[in-house]
Amino acid sequence: MSSIQLNPLKEGLSGNLSVPGDKSISHRAVIFSALAEGTSHITNFLTGEDCLRTVQAFREFGVEIERKGKEVTIYGKGINALQTPTQPINFGNSGTTARLLSGVLAALPHFSTAFGDASLSKRPMDRVVLPLREMGAKISGREEARLLPLAFEGRELTGATIEMSVKSAQVKSALLLAGMLAEGETNVIEKGTTRNHTEMLMSEYGIHIQKEGQKLTIQGNQQPKSSDLRVPGDISSAAFFLVAAAITSGSSILIEGVGLNPTRNGIITALEQMGADIKTEETGRVGHEPVGNVSIKSSKLNGITLEGDLIPNLIDEIPIIALAATQAEGQTVIKDAGELKVKETNRIDSVVFNLRALGADIEATEDGMIINGPVNLNGGTVNSYGDHRIGMMGAIASYIAEGPVEIINPKSIDISYPEFFEHFNEIQKKTS
Ligand code: S3P
Repeated sequence: MSSIQLNPLKEGLSGNLSVPGDKSISHRAVIFSALAEGTSHITNFLTGEDCLRTVQAFREFGVEIERKGKEVTIYGKGINALQTPTQPINFGNSGTTARLLSGVLAALPHFSTAFGDASLSKRPMDRVVLPLREMGAKISGREEARLLPLAFEGRELTGATIEMSVKSAQVKSALLLAGMLAEGETNVIEKGTTRNHTEMLMSEYGIHIQKEGQKLTIQGNQQPKSSDLRVPGDISSAAFFLVAAAITSGSSILIEGVGLNPTRNGIITALEQMGADIKTEETGRVGHEPVGNVSIKSSKLNGITLEGDLIPNLIDEIPIIALAATQAEGQTVIKDAGELKVKETNRIDSVVFNLRALGADIEATEDGMIINGPVNLNGGTVNSYGDHRIGMMGAIASYIAEGPVEIINPKSIDISYPEFFEHFNEIQKKTS
C-alpha cells in the first residue's frame, strides 16, 4: 500500500484558496440533470471519484454525459427515455451514490443491480431499502438487502408517509427522489434537520416540494426540467484548511466561494464556539445556495461540547474537529454522533486510533469521543484505512506535529478532494 511522508511546517499558512465543488451538490446535480428533459450544464463539478460513480451510473442507463474537467454537460431525454442497464452498476466507495440512487433505481421501470467496494459493502443499506419497500419497492440483496450488492426490480412506486428512523440526508433524499417518481403523494418526516441540498435543487430543476416543520411533501410523477448550475465550494473540504490555519501559529488564510448553507455550516459554529478568529462573509447565492468567503487566523482554542441537532450539520467534519480539539485548552466532548460508526470507516475508531498514535489524549465513547488538550503531537503514522477524511486529518496534523507524519493510503483523498496535496503545499509560507 502506498504512503507519503509529510514534514512539520517551518512557518505558518497563508494565502487564498478555492476548494473544489461541493460533493453532495455535485451528486445531486448529476441525478436531476440525468433525469431531466433537456441539456444541463454543471460547472465547478467535483471530479472526485465518488461523484464520477454517479455520472457512470447514469451512463449505464443510456444518458449521454460529457465531462471536460470540472464542466459537465448532461443531455437529458427525460425519465421515459432511460434504458435498462446491461451490467451491474459500481457504486465504488460512494455512500451518497448508493443511498440516493437506491431511491431512483427502485422507482424506475428497469431491472438493475449494484455493488460497492469493500468499505461500502459493509455500510447499512436497510435504512433506504426498508422505507422504499413501504412504497412498494422490490429490492433484494445480501443479508436480506441490508448490504450491497442489491438487485432492483424497478417499478412504479406508490406514495407513502414515512417517518424516518435515522437523521440522514441520504435517506431523506432517496425517499424524496422515489416520491418524485412515484404515483401519488409522499410525506417524509425527518427526525431532525439534515442538509437540504436535494430540496434546494428540486426547486432549481422545476420540481415542486413543500416543507412544513419536519415534514416534506412531494407529489409523484414529476419530470425534472434541465438547468444550468454552478456548484459552490465544499465546506467539508474547506474545513481541513480552516482548522489547519486555526491550529498552526503564524497563519492567516481566506477560503473563497464556499457554500454556506445553514444546514451544512456547523464547522463554522464549532470553530466560533472554540474561540477561533474566523470571519464569514456571504457574497451571494448560486441558485438557492448561499456562498461566501471565510477567513481565519491562528487562534487560541478552547474545548467545547458538540451534541444534538448540531451533529448532522458537521458530521463529516468531526475528524478534523477532533484534531482541532487536541490543540484546544480543556475538554472537548462529542456526543450523539453514533452515525460516525457507519461512515467510510468507523470514524470513532479511526479518529481515536490515529490521533492517539500521534500522542493525543483522546478516548472513544459509545456515541462520540472525548479529547483533552492542548497536547503537542508527535510524528508517527496515520492510516487512512481508505477513508479520505481520515487521510486529510492526518495530513493536517503533520503541519503541527513535532516530527514527520506518514500517511498510509493517501490516494483515498481523491474521493472528495483531488487537489488536496496541491493546496496543502500551496498555502505553506515559503522561507526565502
Ligand atoms: C451526505 C449525507 C451525510 C454525509 C455524507 C453526504 C449527502 O450522510 O455524511 O458524506 O450528500 O446527503 P448521512 O445522510 O448518512 O448522514
